[in-house]
Amino acid sequence: MSTLAIHGGSPAINYQLPDWNDITGRDIGEEEKKLVLEVLDSGRLGMVCGVKVKELQKMWAEKCGVDTAVAVSNGTASLHTALIYACIGAGDEVLVPCITDMGTVIAILLQNGVPVFVDVDPVTQNMDLADFERKITKRSKAVIPVHMFGLPCEIEEVVDVAHRHGLIVVEDCCQAHFATYKGKYVGTIGDIGCFSFQQTKHITAGEGGMVITNGDKKYSRELQLCGDKGWPRNKYREHYFLAPNYHMTDLQAAVAIPQLARIEKNLEARRVSGETLTNCLNEIDGVLTAKVSKEKTHTYFAYQFAIDPDKFTTDRDTLVKAIKAEGLDIIPSYLPKPLYRYDFLQKTVMYNSTGCPLKCGYYEGKADYTKVNCPKAEYACKVGMFMQWNEKLTAEHSKDMGNAIKKVLEYYHI
Ligand SMILES: Cc1ncc(COP(=O)(O)O)c(C=O)c1O
Repeated sequence: MSTLAIHGGSPAINYQLPDWNDITGRDIGEEEKKLVLEVLDSGRLGMVCGVKVKELQKMWAEKCGVDTAVAVSNGTASLHTALIYACIGAGDEVLVPCITDMGTVIAILLQNGVPVFVDVDPVTQNMDLADFERKITKRSKAVIPVHMFGLPCEIEEVVDVAHRHGLIVVEDCCQAHFATYKGKYVGTIGDIGCFSFQQTKHITAGEGGMVITNGDKKYSRELQLCGDKGWPRNKYREHYFLAPNYHMTDLQAAVAIPQLARIEKNLEARRVSGETLTNCLNEIDGVLTAKVSKEKTHTYFAYQFAIDPDKFTTDRDTLVKAIKAEGLDIIPSYLPKPLYRYDFLQKTVMYNSTGCPLKCGYYEGKADYTKVNCPKAEYACKVGMFMQWNEKLTAEHSKDMGNAIKKVLEYYHI
């Protein structure tokens, strides 16, 4: 067995892997440059007078097979826009997995809703169905299932339970662009779908987002107006309801359009490298990888796996340090702790000292996050390992990563 890099040996990977943080890991090129120049030359940079945001919205709606797609400034904005569209208001409970980006939770709070945290599966970190159903109350108005790391959650069952209880389903697809469940794209199975185009995402414009729905005006207001100051653009300075300005610019759309046209090629590349790593890791005793059922396609936003701590002579954090030293960009789990344990939520640091919306007069429940405990999520944060993924990774890179992880885990295996 060769000496581990943390003990002074040579790293298993002695070259730079493609990185999501720069052009080595992102598929951005001549098409994007051409369209950005077109926008600059036109002098029409904004969504209202420009053409690119409208073109992107049309392409996105057509690809998803929905009638409405509204581009916005980021993923958090897409979720907030969706909740405005769904008429979520003060004191309404919105169920949300306790492992996701904080943006999912912030969107609920911005709309004066109350996040109710649901436990997750310890390996996939997708929402636990039984815990979701258990936590529905008469105050629940919506649920935000999140498709973590590119793998669809059990969305059909979530929609079934939610609709039986009269809840609106806002799918958070910020990590799962064009992943499928029983042949349908995520985001089209619930009532509203939300996406992010932030740097790490399958399609990036630096920042950006999209909201989709079918049958616009389902909840009495047009989706487009929910991220546009409630302003019907065919009327001069008219505003129907309270809504922020979450416009995407035409420059962002110009960068996203060519990536959308190439998305299937890039998803296939992510799938090949992701599945190759899974095959390598499944050969190591004590490693738990996500099972991808026949009904789902995984789009590998990230690669998350877990270890069985009883199979190793050292703790998870030391294993991560040792793997990192072998040349991998790996961290211990996606989140260090479930979201309800973050200080600003525990101490209700929001809307000055009022504690609103968690302590709002309209809310009859108790939103004391110091009392919340989701045991599976707590465990997931202790045993997980997380790597950001990208479309430039190949099967060969994955084999090298698999061998590096194997080198470390075999060394520390009991
Ligand atoms: C699952 C999930 N939801 C919401 C967001 C928020 O998106 P943004 O960072 O574009 O606001 C992200 C982005 O990281 C995400 O991964």
